[in-house]
Amino acid sequence: PWRTRIRRRLLQWFKKNARSLPWRDRASDPYSVWLSEVMLQQTQVSTVIPYFKRFLEKFPTVTDLAAAEEATVLQLWEGLGYYRRARQLHAAAKQIVESHDGKFPTQYDDVLALPGIGRYTAGAILSISTGQRLPIVEANTQRLYSRLIASTNHPTDKAANALLWEFAERILPRRDSGQFNQAAMELGALVCTPQQPDCPNCPLQPCCAAHEKGLETIIPGKVKR
Ligand code: ADE
Repeated sequence: PWRTRIRRRLLQWFKKNARSLPWRDRASDPYSVWLSEVMLQQTQVSTVIPYFKRFLEKFPTVTDLAAAEEATVLQLWEGLGYYRRARQLHAAAKQIVESHDGKFPTQYDDVLALPGIGRYTAGAILSISTGQRLPIVEANTQRLYSRLIASTNHPTDKAANALLWEFAERILPRRDSGQFNQAAMELGALVCTPQQPDCPNCPLQPCCAAHEKGLETIIPGKVKR
């Protein structure tokens, strides 16, 4: 069936093509995954790498982060922009110390309740660090999935967004869902790019509705006005 085919092709591609990134060496630690995902939300990978390393060096655990002065946290964040992310990160660390004894929670609802963590971030953290079967839709997967299903509406359009989450849920394997989610983001980042996607080198080209219809460069669609 088509789902099995997509899963197998994507996971195989990821094994060969995954970039070596510092947070991937710490994929079983939800705190590290959280930190990396928050930093990656509005910032590109190459910029994030040194910040991620410095942050973990200075604050190796949630408890260390919670105990820091906000000014120290913001100073380490300097250059990443969107400082609200840093303030929420700090607030969440304090909440984890107060409510979860300093251990990053592994229940979906507990994670979702933390400041600055929405459906995508909670799904990414828990699928990657614990293997829980939770879908994600962020910038890369939004584009990849829009193309796979040839959804021509803008991905933030309410109905289109609902469709993408539904697809993300159905496509996820029972096992290896963290690997699968990382692979999907990686394919979006390296191959299924916004401009000029590299379809000839895409493992999912034979499964892609947009490619079949010649729509890969006009999907994701524009915002309707
Ligand atoms: N963008 C956001 N999170 C990512 C991840 N874990 N891997 C690659 N790109 C990403």
